[in-house]
Amino acid sequence: MSNKKSPIAQRVANLDASGIRKVFDLAATMKDPINLSIGQPDFDVPDPIKEAAIEAIRRGQNKYTQTQGIPELREAIADELRKEFGWTEVPPILVTSGVSGALMLAFFVLVDPGDEVIILDPYFVMYVHQVRLAGGIPVIIDTYPDFRPPLDKIEAAITPRTKLLVVNSPCNPSGAIYTAEELQSIAEIARRHNLLVISDEIYNLFCYDAPFRSLAEFYENTILMRGFSKSYAMTGWRMAYVTGPKDVMDKMTTLQQYSFVCAPSMAQVAGPIALKTDMSPQVAAYKCKRDMVYEALRDTFGLVKPAGAFYAFVPAPKGLSATEFVTRAIQNNVLVIPGSVFSERDSHFRISYATTDEKLAQGLEILNKLANSL
Ligand SMILES: Cc1ncc(COP(=O)(O)O)c(C=O)c1O
Repeated sequence: MSNKKSPIAQRVANLDASGIRKVFDLAATMKDPINLSIGQPDFDVPDPIKEAAIEAIRRGQNKYTQTQGIPELREAIADELRKEFGWTEVPPILVTSGVSGALMLAFFVLVDPGDEVIILDPYFVMYVHQVRLAGGIPVIIDTYPDFRPPLDKIEAAITPRTKLLVVNSPCNPSGAIYTAEELQSIAEIARRHNLLVISDEIYNLFCYDAPFRSLAEFYENTILMRGFSKSYAMTGWRMAYVTGPKDVMDKMTTLQQYSFVCAPSMAQVAGPIALKTDMSPQVAAYKCKRDMVYEALRDTFGLVKPAGAFYAFVPAPKGLSATEFVTRAIQNNVLVIPGSVFSERDSHFRISYATTDEKLAQGLEILNKLANSL
């Protein structure tokens, strides 16, 4: 046996992707699966956005940009924020390599070893891993069964080590959207305890029942993150932006200079065109898909109606863990993800309805048959 020490650093030694890998290993055995697992839109980037990026490449805009992003894009973003929030002065804007990049920068800039970060369960899994990588302690608060923000539990979890709260509305994976009253209450808690709040608003365009409301309307110490990945199907282009308190943004900008450097130049050039693109037809189509999912699964599974994003977080039938039910779904050619990937619980599974109506209808029928046969 070799007594060679592992070259892997302690900080990543326990990083583990086995939960999701198991699902994808199983999926690799499927023939023409009905794939309801994908976390990205099934529509393509609208043509004018593509053309703008192609033209940028042809013109030679292929070089490093300013770390904080090109001025035309930051101005277009600032215009949007001024219109939406009525701000006369917009805080500094940093264009990042996806919201993933913005999160990484924020956690590394804000979290000292031993600092606590409150995360609401179910959660986007990256939060937990990135907080740990920064040496922080994720403090996980359960929001089952209706996925509303549990205000009392949040306040009770705050300690002198609490540094940050992460809010994600519309939420991946639950599809929950927080109301203005809930956001106002979160703002009051954060203000009482002098907490910074990361508001991950990557799904802000995908709101089906009421206009989107942002925590930034209610709370000055919000680190607001929005992306181009979901709104314009630009997942591979790696672009997002973040805005917030100046001292935090300054340090995030410096850290970006020493890490990601800048978001892709051609994506940045296309950014202002994206912001002007009307995505309401795509959003309307996703609302219909949301309705299809809810109508199909509410009685069999007791699904809480998702209000946004493009996910439904569905309780597994009684007597089965989510992993057990997902294994059976996969054996029946439907690929969904067990909630244990997004949660301390293994009681729900996530459906992404970002697929064709035909595939979605087929998948829903199989899931229903499977639940009824138990
Ligand atoms: C809630 C949430 N935040 C952030 C991201 C990261 O998106 P990107 O890095 O593509 O901007 C995702 C992607 O799935 C997400 O679901």
